[in-house]
Amino acid sequence: MDKLLLSRWFWWVLLLPLALALVRVVDTVFYDPSALGPDPAQALVDLFGTIALWFLCFVLLVTPLQALIKARWLLRQRRALGVACFCYALLHWLSYAGLLLEWQWQNLGQDLLKRPYIIVGFSAGLMLLLLAVTSNNGSVRALGRRWRVLHRLVYPAALLVLIHMFWVARSDYTEVVMYTVFVLLLLLQRWRNRATS
Ligand code: HEM
Repeated sequence: MDKLLLSRWFWWVLLLPLALALVRVVDTVFYDPSALGPDPAQALVDLFGTIALWFLCFVLLVTPLQALIKARWLLRQRRALGVACFCYALLHWLSYAGLLLEWQWQNLGQDLLKRPYIIVGFSAGLMLLLLAVTSNNGSVRALGRRWRVLHRLVYPAALLVLIHMFWVARSDYTEVVMYTVFVLLLLLQRWRNRATS
């Protein structure tokens, strides 16, 4: 498959959720103030968090899917998916800091007492940052075997995100249980493969 075409196609896939989110923001600001629901700020934080989670699930899905359908091009896109996951996590953090905290850092301590799950989300975000900055070819070469070990951080990061979500959910756990089963099945499959290889 044409590599250039593939990477362009992939950029569209990565940017599509952002375009859809922007359409909803423009709709809310200029046309329909209820387009994002009763609390647009919170809805936007949730939206970017959910998109980041989706990309994290795609990253975890790549290896088992590649083993199943033997599509090597899929494996090549794993780093792009990981960087996209980090970018949406960053937008999630920025929308939290800008819209919920309103850049009032003196209120952060009080907000952390009110929403302690932020500390767990932030820890996962730091892991994703580490993975994103070392996802280039230079880091792969420089870190050698340690690169693979470092990039296993994606698994604890995914578990922290699930804890973060459980904590946010409060009453309806259906969605978070579905994500947890999905992620745990992928982790189980990965461990089984490592044990047998
Ligand atoms: C970087 C630091 C982070 C901060 C400050 C943060 C903050 C928040 C906040 C304030 C909420 C709840 C909003 C509400 O009350 O509804 C939330 C929910 C959520 N966050 Fe984070 N988070 C962080 C990291 C992450 C990461 C790394 C991910 C995923 C990769 C993530 C995924 C989610 C999801 C999926 C939700 C629930 C969305 C929903 O209920 O629909 N968060 N986060």
